[in-house]
Amino acid sequence: MAFPHVSVLSLLVLSSFMVASAGNFYQDFDITWGDGRAKILNNGDLLTLNFDKASGSGFQSRNEYLFGKIDMQLKLVPGNSAGTVTAYYLSSKGSNWDEIDFEFLGNLSGDPYILHTNVFSQGKGNREQQFYLWFDPTADFHTYSILWNPQRIVFSVDGTPIREFKNMESKGVPFPKDQPMRIYSSLWNADDWATRGGVVKTDWSQAPFTASYRNFNANNACVRSTGSGTSSCNSNSASSNAWLSQELDSTSHDRLSWVQKNYMIYNYCSDTKRFPQGLPTECITS
Ligand SMILES: *[C@@H]1O[C@H](CO)[C@@H](O)[C@H](O)[C@H]1NC(C)=O
Repeated sequence: MAFPHVSVLSLLVLSSFMVASAGNFYQDFDITWGDGRAKILNNGDLLTLNFDKASGSGFQSRNEYLFGKIDMQLKLVPGNSAGTVTAYYLSSKGSNWDEIDFEFLGNLSGDPYILHTNVFSQGKGNREQQFYLWFDPTADFHTYSILWNPQRIVFSVDGTPIREFKNMESKGVPFPKDQPMRIYSSLWNADDWATRGGVVKTDWSQAPFTASYRNFNANNACVRSTGSGTSSCNSNSASSNAWLSQELDSTSHDRLSWVQKNYMIYNYCSDTKRFPQGLPTECITS
């Protein structure tokens, strides 16, 4: 592997380059709110978000991305996490924003978290799908990934795809592909709706609540450089930017069906009551 610069700054460049490939929270993210409740630890390998009665906390990526394959490992609030929401998402700015969401809705000890997903294009969402997980997301770190390329958005958990949102612009459905997005995450109180629809409230005697993050990887992504308005695409492998046209192979399709059959608890595409005028276009496959 060739390093990009050789100069008097080579040592500095070399070290930051190596840190970049490993994913380092000091280098890749800014803590944006929470007054000390968000912390970067272990030389940048670990980030924790905390919240208590006074405030939640959050962070955002320094880079903006226009397409990417983005992995993060999360370990969610353990024990009685009812009323808490850990949001982890990509979003652009402005009133016609695009957004790709993972939200984790906490629960009483022993009761399942809900993984809530949504896709916004040009300011319009209403595309919720919700899942239970096939493991306890508070016991250990698990990898939550977004593959976002011009043809599709795929949400995955530990490499298993749980949701695919295809580019159906040809049928008039806007697809996020022009607005660069940042990565955001926050932990906050949402006991007015999160757990059993708001019935179970946050137990403040359990505070502070903590969610942890590690092993961020956006080595396969197009980074929008500030100022110039252009983006440059990185790739892990020498081979190419294969991820930019990646689709689900038949094994991945099988796993997606397995998750949707066994773990999906809400799908807007099946909610005919909610859409009396007819289901959204992207839900109609034939
Ligand atoms: C919490 O547990 C209850 C009871 O098992 C379940 O109905 C609900 O879907 C779970 N998740 C949330 C976030 O409410």
